[in-house]
Amino acid sequence: MTLPVIELREVSRRYDGGPPALHEVSLTVRPGEAVAIVGPSGSGKSTLLHLIAGLDRPDTGTVTVDGVRVDRLGESGSALYRRSKIGMVFQFFNLLDDLTVADNVALPARLAGMGRGEADRRTVELLETLGIDRHARSYPGRLSGGERQRVAVARALMNRPPLLLADEPTGALDTAAGQDVGKLLTELNAEGQTIVVVTHDLALARSCTNRAVRIADGRIAEDARTHAVAPETVR
Ligand SMILES: Nc1ncnc2c1ncn2[C@@H]1O[C@H](COP(=O)(O)OP(=O)(O)O)[C@@H](O)[C@H]1O
Ligand SMILES: [Mg+2]
Repeated sequence: MTLPVIELREVSRRYDGGPPALHEVSLTVRPGEAVAIVGPSGSGKSTLLHLIAGLDRPDTGTVTVDGVRVDRLGESGSALYRRSKIGMVFQFFNLLDDLTVADNVALPARLAGMGRGEADRRTVELLETLGIDRHARSYPGRLSGGERQRVAVARALMNRPPLLLADEPTGALDTAAGQDVGKLLTELNAEGQTIVVVTHDLALARSCTNRAVRIADGRIAEDARTHAVAPETVR
């Protein structure tokens, strides 16, 4: 049996004074799955993503990603974990506006100690794969939202992470650009990339994932296998 990419066991997290943001959540994600995390605002989706990303720690329970006990990592361990095991994509892209597209994409590799030559080669390869190579020397500010999100995806994939995490990746995009990102995630998953995407966008959840986990009040209310359908047939 292959090792799960994500294994959460009875994870609880409560912020000061509030009700539990997550209550005894257990979740297993296997290699090659594409999982949508859906649910109303305030239900605990971002909390869940932050725990998986090692940006926060549970009060109780364990978080294991690709064999790493993320809930036990210290600061430097958690930085190393984020560089090597996960790639993250955000609603507002989080690109560095003072760096070119190519330098944004290469940055995670440079931070991980990859040599310039190798990082450049990998950058070119990713920009070509994602269809944004003509923008390599542009600054992100000159690109459309959809193009910026492609750059963010390229950056997230730079260090070949076993897990790609996305938090509302279409939240700042128009419908066409959102569909484009959905297609991109579908293609990456078809090549074997494990993906977890938090989204309000049901069309995205249905088009690019094969499993939907619905969170309500900090608990998993539903965990359903779905069949990915082509984006054109969804909207
Ligand atoms: N840093 C924080 N401090 C206090 N409460 C928080 C914090 N982050 C989230 N919460 C609370 O935890 C609950 C879950 O939030 P969150 O995970 O952000 O939900 P979602 O991403 O589904 O909108 C909400 O009640 C929210 O107000
Ligand atoms: Mg959120």
